[in-house]
Amino acid sequence: MKLSEIKNFYKQKIDELKKHNKLYFDESSPKISDKEYDKIKKEIIDLEKKFPFLISTSSPSKSLGFAPSKNFVKSKHRVKMLSLSNAFDFDDLKNFEKKIYNYLNEKIEIEYSVEPKIDGISASLTYKNGMLVLGTSRGDGTTGEVITENLKTIKDIPQKIKFEDFPEDIDIRGEVFITKVDFNELKNDFANPRNAASGSLRQKDPKQTKKIPLNFVAYTFGFFESTKIKKQSEFLSSLKKWGFKTSEYNKVLKSINDLEIFHKKFEKDRFDLEYDIDGLVYKINSFELQKRLGFTSSSPRWAIAHKFSADSAYSQIMNINIQVGRTGALTPVARIKPVNIGGVLVSNATLHNEDEIIRKDIRLGDTVKVERAGDVIPHVVLVDIKKRKKNSKKFVFPQKCPCGFNTIKEFNKITKKYDAVRRCPDRGFDCEKIAVEKIKHFISKEALNIDGFGKKVVEKFWELKLIRFPQDIFKLDYTKISKLEGWGDLSVSNLKYSIDQSKKVSLDRFLYSIGIRHIGIENAKLLAEYTKSITNFLNLIKNKKFNEFLNIDGIGETQINSLKKFFENQSNYKIIEKLSSILNISDLKLNKDGKLLNNTFMFTGKLSNMSRAEAKSMIEENSGSVVSSVNKKLKYLIIGEKPTNRKVQKAKELGIKILSQKEWLNLLN
Ligand code: IVH
Repeated sequence: MKLSEIKNFYKQKIDELKKHNKLYFDESSPKISDKEYDKIKKEIIDLEKKFPFLISTSSPSKSLGFAPSKNFVKSKHRVKMLSLSNAFDFDDLKNFEKKIYNYLNEKIEIEYSVEPKIDGISASLTYKNGMLVLGTSRGDGTTGEVITENLKTIKDIPQKIKFEDFPEDIDIRGEVFITKVDFNELKNDFANPRNAASGSLRQKDPKQTKKIPLNFVAYTFGFFESTKIKKQSEFLSSLKKWGFKTSEYNKVLKSINDLEIFHKKFEKDRFDLEYDIDGLVYKINSFELQKRLGFTSSSPRWAIAHKFSADSAYSQIMNINIQVGRTGALTPVARIKPVNIGGVLVSNATLHNEDEIIRKDIRLGDTVKVERAGDVIPHVVLVDIKKRKKNSKKFVFPQKCPCGFNTIKEFNKITKKYDAVRRCPDRGFDCEKIAVEKIKHFISKEALNIDGFGKKVVEKFWELKLIRFPQDIFKLDYTKISKLEGWGDLSVSNLKYSIDQSKKVSLDRFLYSIGIRHIGIENAKLLAEYTKSITNFLNLIKNKKFNEFLNIDGIGETQINSLKKFFENQSNYKIIEKLSSILNISDLKLNKDGKLLNNTFMFTGKLSNMSRAEAKSMIEENSGSVVSSVNKKLKYLIIGEKPTNRKVQKAKELGIKILSQKEWLNLLN
């Protein structure tokens, strides 16, 4: 990269970070996850390491947060509000301790004050002669916002303290947060409890703050001159005596081995806490040692935050519900005690299928490890058997679909095994559960793509009996809809417009939208290419010429059997006929002169700023095609974030060209 390009790239990243800081701190409405935010920050810091000339005053390595909001009067902290450095594993802890011994240049036994790291918003309270005179937010660490009146609305914050030994002049610092139960009431307005606390605390009108139940736990001091208190643990006890809430989980431990053991245990128990914590804080207990160690520019040398995993957390299964999918598959879903995984509050985790429950012996009440990474649906990874209650019983998977029909497990002739998935035999629209899912599929992005008609709307309209079949969408009672809560004239006319627009649909999309099992987008395209028009397609079906489809390269027995089964159900046939009379289904015109003609692509890893579906249609618009496995037919493997190593390796072995997302986009333009 040229120097100017590096500078531009760096500036772009800084601007991005500033934008997200503003959204987070000023507007309390973050648009990205904590993980994505950390990624941008890391990119900036990595660039600065490589090119130190880039470092500017707006670098995140120089500031501790974000400039205070314009909405509040500012106040300079008498003692800076610093942050803590982070440890993610035992090696980081060993390193932390090693640095301390190097610095002290002597080997003494170190005692640690261990405190939960509550995931809230820090605040500083100045008391003079026992009176609360000032309350501030952290702001950028140097200057905070004056939010005294808002803080005064919090019941845990004493406004007057009468103890003899309470210092004449002191800043008490701690965390403002909201409990998980209270957050539940607000979850439609905020991404997680921390944002809710931040949003509430920074209301211009303290009356608004009072409406949201905030809590305060005290854990340290800013300005404070004392000779009597010698240890952090003593300070915490004093805080309690003076009337502050302190964490009931604070404790003193002696070695980093014990810290590690305690951390492991706490990570498993944290879902039971009434508030979110994202790690443990270890502080050297002795104030004398703290003083000797001092601070770096951004954090104390005598403390570290030991974070919990950002991708997984332990929680408890409260219930197991069975969801029925579009093809009748029964998917068990665990309802878990809400737990914060990487900034997202997770309360459901998929258990995949009946076999998975049997294999892992997952039971009601079990403590389980739940993983959530990238776009993958949160899922249960393992059961903590040690935590299982003696009287726990094996989970009995229901043998009936909620529609009342007996379920089946299909026998796979090729693998000679029974399917892992239990299904409601494909009764199409006769099973209410399947019917709703089929309609959701019908309106989805890759199918009819009806703007403003999401899954939630389908559920609502279903509940109100406004729709039972896909064709009902085209004769909706708009007067009734405009009377529903949340539907104004504008949204009704928008919906009307996008439904009208969706009536013009290409044959392949239409064949995909009707939701025949084993006919995904690719196969729908193959069928459309072969039959050319809906009339031809329906003629083949009417005359039961299913075997003609065997001429299509890519269509095999599985698809043919599925088509047969689908159309054996007369109501399915009628629905398709009906729809074809309402819709304007265009014959397939393939784009055969794009610049990617005869080129095959495959993706691995997460793409930035676009979905797989979007990337795929970009390739197809340019006459290229996307395949789903790495083999000799593949020309390019496009890698995004966190690609599957196996795929990359195989592509290398086969000599397939590997492209980054950027290189691929360059190829297009
Ligand atoms: S001590 C210089 N103790 O973590 C010491 N901080 O990254 C700094 N936090 O801004 C603070 N629980 O919001 C400390 N027991 C605890 C804490 C704690 C949560 C937060 C606090 C701080 C951030 C540091």
